[in-house]
Amino acid sequence: MGEVIVDQLNRPIHDLRISVTDRCNFRCKYCMPKEVFGNDYVFLPKEELLSFEEIERLSRIYARLGVKKLRLTGGEPLLRKDLDQLIARLNEIPGIEDIGLTTNAKLLKLQGKKLYRAGLRRLNISLDAIDDETFKSINDRNVSSQEILDNIHYAVSLGFKVKVNMVVQKGVNDHEVIPMAKYFKSHGITLRFIEFMDVGNDNAWDMKKVKPSKEIANELDELFGLEPISANYYGEVANRYRYKDSQAEVGFISSVTNAFCNSCTRARISSNGYFYGCLFATKGIHLKPLLRDKSLDDEAVYKSLVDIWQGRNDQYSNLRDQMKGQREHQKINMNYIGG
Ligand code: GTP
Ligand code: 5AD
Ligand code: SF4
Ligand code: SF4
Repeated sequence: MGEVIVDQLNRPIHDLRISVTDRCNFRCKYCMPKEVFGNDYVFLPKEELLSFEEIERLSRIYARLGVKKLRLTGGEPLLRKDLDQLIARLNEIPGIEDIGLTTNAKLLKLQGKKLYRAGLRRLNISLDAIDDETFKSINDRNVSSQEILDNIHYAVSLGFKVKVNMVVQKGVNDHEVIPMAKYFKSHGITLRFIEFMDVGNDNAWDMKKVKPSKEIANELDELFGLEPISANYYGEVANRYRYKDSQAEVGFISSVTNAFCNSCTRARISSNGYFYGCLFATKGIHLKPLLRDKSLDDEAVYKSLVDIWQGRNDQYSNLRDQMKGQREHQKINMNYIGG
């Protein structure tokens, strides 16, 4: 093993989150609202996207820097053509111990088997409500919660390890917290509550809409009894608990009320090949010129990626209060950077 590469805040790199497309088949109001991303929105043309070869090469080189975990995101990653082929390639990379996919699950019925065959084992599925009317009003594409629930069970039946992500917004879906908890507890599926974050520019974020994890944890503890479980690895984003009367787990991602920047070991790559040191970054570093310069071999690219990581000093959530409004309308949208 070589030396550990750390950034300005002494953080090693562990996860690479790769967005494979900026498109999505949902129009969640907090992410890609119809008014902004209606029918005419110009998404990235195909040539702009990193190719599978480029994603694979980048991942191989990042594995040398210390990356152990890859997560594919979007937009909606299942909209990227032949995604299973990418997974099969990434699965071969030495040093990569874990590959996950974050998806809204709409297309899982069609693609689940192929993805499993390609070696994918972990799915994080977004579902913000079981109540159909609430869910439809959030996804704004008339997709029913039953369809997503069916696909979640289908994924479990194929052998996937599934976690469900619920972004909680006060006044929008906080009435669904207990129904969601009961449902997934009864099915033994991990549910994670995510605090609504001020990512992107188009989601009308307001602190008043944030439901603090603590409140939910207290409610669940009173109802069912919770006991904490230790993190799977250093820098895991969710605080995890087990229900006292079952093996089911529940998690809390508290990026607003309890920032976890001090152990943020994640690099993000947008679908058109920019490196971002933070979900809330305003500027990325373009990697395509590096990857497409024929005079640069893997060693040269490795050196540049080391420099980039060593220069990283992002910690937006730690500084949110001090930065009030400063990044207004400059942040990168979630469909582009991948959450
Ligand atoms: P596993 O722990 O491997 O299952 O995945 P994950 O939780 O890292 O990935 P996932 O895509 O499911 O992320 C869940 C939520 O956590 C999303 O809403 C992300 O936007 C949020 N999240 C993930 N990483 C970060 C981060 O570095 N900073 C902030 N602020 N939020 C993050
Ligand atoms: N705050 C918190 N989570 C968000 N996501 C999208 N936008 C936000 C936001 N503003 C979530 C999605 C998905 C994950 C990748 O990010 O619902 O679960
Ligand atoms: Fe909704 Fe996720 Fe699509 Fe954004 S990327 S619109 S959060 S499903
Ligand atoms: Fe990492 Fe930025 Fe999230 Fe902090 S706000 S945990 S630095 S991605």
